[in-house]
Amino acid sequence: MRTPIVAGNWKMNGSLELVASIAEAWQTAASELTDIEVVIFPPAVYLSAAQQAWQATQIKWGGQNLSEYAPGAYTGEIAAPMLQEMACQYVLLGHSERRSIYGETVAQITAKFMCAQAAGLRPILCVGETQEERDKGQTMAVISNQLIPILALGTDFLADVVIAYEPVWAIGTGLTATPEQAQAVHADIRKLVAEHAPNIAPELRILYGGSVKPNNAKELFAMADIDGGLIGGASLNADSFLQICRAAVECKA
Ligand code: 13P
Repeated sequence: MRTPIVAGNWKMNGSLELVASIAEAWQTAASELTDIEVVIFPPAVYLSAAQQAWQATQIKWGGQNLSEYAPGAYTGEIAAPMLQEMACQYVLLGHSERRSIYGETVAQITAKFMCAQAAGLRPILCVGETQEERDKGQTMAVISNQLIPILALGTDFLADVVIAYEPVWAIGTGLTATPEQAQAVHADIRKLVAEHAPNIAPELRILYGGSVKPNNAKELFAMADIDGGLIGGASLNADSFLQICRAAVECKA
């Protein structure tokens, strides 16, 4: 049985007010949201406030990125042990915005992955294809290139990994993959993982991300290989994020 995860990626959004409004919403909702994990990735400057506001709730928090280097002279960067010190349990790695806007390479992401594991952080590794790649039938070729270097690290490194399938064409566009499209890729990802690490594939949680909203979450989460979601825009409002969490509870109960 895979415990679903609903994760909120605030990206470069949010405020102290949003940290507080999430805490407030969870005070009344807590008893309904059993048997799922809820994780929020606020900008790093809000991690301390998040820790204070959310520590008495079920909400976990994590970093949106980390440096591939150990602490040292890297202005503007955040090292894995720092996230761990802020009681982060998870870290997002390889988000398409990191890959496309900041030019993060697979080698860099693999190095970050190893730093996360060394610090006891669970990586949520994002993978996904562009519209052009999908149109050319390259979806799984692209995802294999993103995943295989990580899978090659070996089972010891993979125990805590979560994968987020985020088709680039569905991120922030309002264009969601249909449940069938998403399910097909999730099943292929599980098969790919099974080829490299058969013992972790059945328990591996694979989240879908890309324009998940309260009105489409349930049909996505109902699919067999979709184990929750990575939510962008709709995680910036306590009420809509809560509704998406409820959808996960209903589907996976
Ligand atoms: P949206 O939900 O805004 O499409 O963003 C998805 C995403 O990129 C989450 O990491």
